[in-house]
Amino acid sequence: MFRIAPSLLSADFARLGEEVRNVVASGADWIHFDVMDNHYVPNLTIGPLVCEAIRPHTEAPIDVHLMVKPVDRIIPDFAKAGANVITFHPEASEHVDRSLGLIRDSGCLAGLVFNPATPLFWMDHVMDKLDVVLLMSVNPGFGGQKFIPGTLDKLREARARIDAYAERSGRQILLEIDGGVKVDNIGEIAAAGADTFVAGSAVFGAARIEDPNRYDSVIGALRTQLAEIRT
Ligand code: DX5
Ligand code: ZN
Repeated sequence: MFRIAPSLLSADFARLGEEVRNVVASGADWIHFDVMDNHYVPNLTIGPLVCEAIRPHTEAPIDVHLMVKPVDRIIPDFAKAGANVITFHPEASEHVDRSLGLIRDSGCLAGLVFNPATPLFWMDHVMDKLDVVLLMSVNPGFGGQKFIPGTLDKLREARARIDAYAERSGRQILLEIDGGVKVDNIGEIAAAGADTFVAGSAVFGAARIEDPNRYDSVIGALRTQLAEIRT
């Protein structure tokens, strides 16, 4: 019911394949893959070649978060490189409906990403093409930032829209949160309606107490908080 998606942004880039294997063996559900272009966001990261390189290291879904502008040209490349989920920021596409269609036609789940100041109405007329709604709880571009508290109200609003849509369509849309998710706030974030949690610095920055290559304790601690929500 809840998915934890460690963000590779905080992993050791010199040994990404190993990091992917270790974090999945430690209980990660998805691998969150942050793509930045030094244009849409002020940072530069990884592209389809790196996605292709890590693909053989896991069967876990690769969740590609595009922070690039434009988006359409690069979508098929990520699909071919083994992405399972592709999300993009609506401000970065001239034709949001077309970009969502491109993602789905390439066999991936499609999603829109909402910056802290981006209104939720961007989803209104494309609900049928959405598999994921991703709310940013920091401004995109960097790991290790602080969770913006106003995102909790926005999450509740997004949850209500998604639930209302599920009621009338019978179709589920995932609600993912990205930025500043930690053991001490994941509970209230889940209570506000998120079901999928990106965590970068919280997972990869964690002191690996028992074993330097395992992330069990932090992923376990995140899950313990989530388990309390259900009761
Ligand atoms: C920020 C990225 C996030 C980031 C999250 O632009 O989209 O996925 O890696 O990192 P933490 O969990 O450290 O805030
Ligand atoms: Zn991200």
